[in-house]
Amino acid sequence: MFSFVARSANLSSVTVAATQSVANGSKALSPAVSINIERVLVPPPAQKLTTNSLTAGLPINPIRASVSIGGPSQVRFAHTDVSIPDFSAYRRSNLKDSSADNKSSAPSRQGFSYLIVGSGAVGGAYAAKTVVGEFVGSMSASADVLALAKIEVKLNDIPEGKNVTFKWRGKPLFIRHRTAEEIDTESKVDMSTLRDPQLDSDRAQRPEWLVLLGVCTHLGCVPIANSGEFGGYYCPCHGSHYDASGRIRKGPAPLNLEIPIHTFVDENTLVVG
Ligand code: FES
Repeated sequence: MFSFVARSANLSSVTVAATQSVANGSKALSPAVSINIERVLVPPPAQKLTTNSLTAGLPINPIRASVSIGGPSQVRFAHTDVSIPDFSAYRRSNLKDSSADNKSSAPSRQGFSYLIVGSGAVGGAYAAKTVVGEFVGSMSASADVLALAKIEVKLNDIPEGKNVTFKWRGKPLFIRHRTAEEIDTESKVDMSTLRDPQLDSDRAQRPEWLVLLGVCTHLGCVPIANSGEFGGYYCPCHGSHYDASGRIRKGPAPLNLEIPIHTFVDENTLVVG
């Protein structure tokens, strides 16, 4: 018997067809043919051991052990065969007894600790002192500046009536060996005639020696000694006249020539600075 059912072309995908062969007396059935279909097995994709995949394998819930008939079980081995290195050669002899309490060995251990801390403190203090000393020393004047901070002058090398110029702290230094006539003249000057009134006795520690900075108080030129209308110094830049005491007498300069700090160490030695 043969039957065929086809409802419509649109339903061809769900069409059901069936055949059925039934033997009758006139025609035998065809022998059955067996077809061996070889199954193709596709290997599963290889598991990638990444951080995520390994993490996903970790247990989410707390680990519990359960035993049941037919349940999974496992055997774990304790690695008691691992040999622990012997560090006793590195241990102090009084600490090798593992049954002794720590208080009995405290003095020896603390002594060593105090020794280390004390040594470190001494070393640190010495290093700090060196660093601070170097830092402060770096801010002080250099050796060449210190060498020029003071100048010593032998006075018997300067004849009377002469003015000698030295270089001191980068500036001209005038040392004048005044004559008796100059001393007499300068000591009798009327203070009311001076622009910057100052007694000659206040400017010269010893009357015969006058110590001045050779810098004009107008704009800083170097005056010329034994020149000018008053026999002292003359500044050619703008015409300032100073007397033999270094006091301004005429011209644009507003002040007397500056007198540096100086000391007469003995009869023939002068130290300026
Ligand atoms: S700088 Fe000396 S008078 Fe001007």
